[in-house]
Amino acid sequence: MKRSNPPSRVLLAVAAGFVVVLSGCDSLPGRPGDDPVPRPDEVLDFNALYRDNCSGCHGNGGKGGAAMSLADPVYQALVDDATLHRIITNGLPGTLMTPFGQSAGGMLTEQQVDALVHGMRTRWANPSALGGATPPPYTAPSPGDAARGADVYQGSCAMCHGPGGHGGAVAGSIADGSFLGLVTDQELRTMIIVGVPGTAMPDWRSHIPGPLSSQEISDVVAWLGAQRPAFPGQPYASGSAPASGGSQ
Ligand code: HEC
Ligand code: HEC
Repeated sequence: MKRSNPPSRVLLAVAAGFVVVLSGCDSLPGRPGDDPVPRPDEVLDFNALYRDNCSGCHGNGGKGGAAMSLADPVYQALVDDATLHRIITNGLPGTLMTPFGQSAGGMLTEQQVDALVHGMRTRWANPSALGGATPPPYTAPSPGDAARGADVYQGSCAMCHGPGGHGGAVAGSIADGSFLGLVTDQELRTMIIVGVPGTAMPDWRSHIPGPLSSQEISDVVAWLGAQRPAFPGQPYASGSAPASGGSQ
């Protein structure tokens, strides 16, 4: 997952160093004191950190990847710095979002995680994104009720995601095990609050019949979560699945 600098970049940097040496420092606008090839743990440039560690899943420029868009001002307004720092450092257990912080066995220093958080904020946040609206809390304040969630689903989601969540004319299935097995309840909550940029999936404000409350979101997440298979990825009913297979 962690890649060292591709050779072409290293060569370029070395070549740039020669140019500095050959042409004499005083005639160049660059800063000759800078080390042209920083060690991996010294890279603090957001673009390099994001490209090398995150873009493969969250997309170039923070959108259009397989994992959710980070370059979404509504998401950036929802989540605080401490939460971003914690998720990047520790990852989200059981998902493809692995820990990146050295303190959790990853490769990035505290300063590099800070540089990522700061870079996302300066590039992708927009203070007026919510137009003064207050989003539901990022973390569910209380557990949801799956039975009430079925009603929320029917009233606010089925018109796009189809009966039972198995896909409709406008949007795909969100109730099948292979999807639910890879996504945490928090991620479901996040997506229901912020929507999916670039698609018809609205943020919490634009649902029908009206803005979703924090409790309604918890309830519909509980309804979806109740359909998550006990053994994701295995083609067995949970009752017949081996208690401990060869894979962990
Ligand atoms: C106006 C149509 C519309 C409504 C209403 C809607 N969605 Fe969506 N939703 C979409 C579209 C479009 C996507 C993008 C993925 C796709 O095309 O299937 C999406 C994506 C999602 C995803 C992410 C799926 C993935 O594969 O990453 C979740 C979770 C989700 N919706 C849940 C809900 C829930 C819960 C509700 C009701 C509270 C809801 N949606 C209401 C259209 C809608
Ligand atoms: C191998 C794929 C992968 C890589 C690489 C990756 N992520 Fe993720 N990321 C995910 C997935 C999948 C999720 C959703 C996990 C879940 O279901 O909770 C996620 C979730 C997140 C979230 C939480 C979203 C929320 O709900 O609040 C943040 C923030 C995030 N990633 C940032 C990053 C950053 C920054 C990097 C680079 C340092 C990165 N990710 C690298 C796959 C990846």
